[in-house]
Amino acid sequence: MQLYTERLFLRDLNFNDAQNIFAYRSDAEANKFQSWIPESREDVESFIQRNKIEFNQPESWYQVLITDRETEAVIGDIGIHFFGAENLQVELGITLNKDFQGKGYAAEALQGVIDFLFNDLGKHRIMASVDPDNSDSIRLMERIGFRKEGHFIKSLFWKNRWVDDVIYAILREEWMKK
Ligand SMILES: CC(C)(COP(=O)(O)OP(=O)(O)OC[C@H]1O[C@@H](n2cnc3c(N)ncnc32)[C@H](O)[C@@H]1OP(=O)(O)O)[C@@H](O)C(=O)NCCC(=O)NCCS
Repeated sequence: MQLYTERLFLRDLNFNDAQNIFAYRSDAEANKFQSWIPESREDVESFIQRNKIEFNQPESWYQVLITDRETEAVIGDIGIHFFGAENLQVELGITLNKDFQGKGYAAEALQGVIDFLFNDLGKHRIMASVDPDNSDSIRLMERIGFRKEGHFIKSLFWKNRWVDDVIYAILREEWMKK
């Protein structure tokens, strides 16, 4: 997929992006709430290879790169998970390079993707699963107008322990009213 927002250009990953993606995704502390921490550039290359599937396929994850539309710098990525029997629901996850946080890029990129998913693809519901300790992500969910739907206690077995999971979501009709 490709889309422009005011300051950003969102596009497919390609092998030339491997080093830039490795640079921010390999930071284990900054990504402590993420499950994928690559250990080498080759890990990132296989990740890019696995992403070479068609966009909007049922029960698939698709990764899109967030870049600066002027400098072309790699800012981060968004994971888009198409799920549900009707293929009308989507889960989103986002990761920004630390150097590009605190500038509103995450909210701008997500708003662009959400507009596209609701307006162009006619999706019904978009959700995100957030660790309750991930305050940056919780602030982001609230900034873009997602509703908190529930806090599940020790519902995910993650990195060898049971952790809580907070679900945020928005429906197409709610997004259209904004
Ligand atoms: C979650 C994450 C993407 C949030 O990034 P972020 O930079 O805080 O979010 P935004 O890009 O929307 O930036 C918002 C901040 O920029 C500030 N900002 C500065 N200039 C701005 C501008 N021109 N427009 C909008 N906001 C601006 C806002 O005030 C806000 O700061 P605040 O949170 O201190 O109030 C980021 O922390 C991250 O990548 N974390 C690691 C990965 C992770 O845990 N992901 C969650 C998985 S769901």
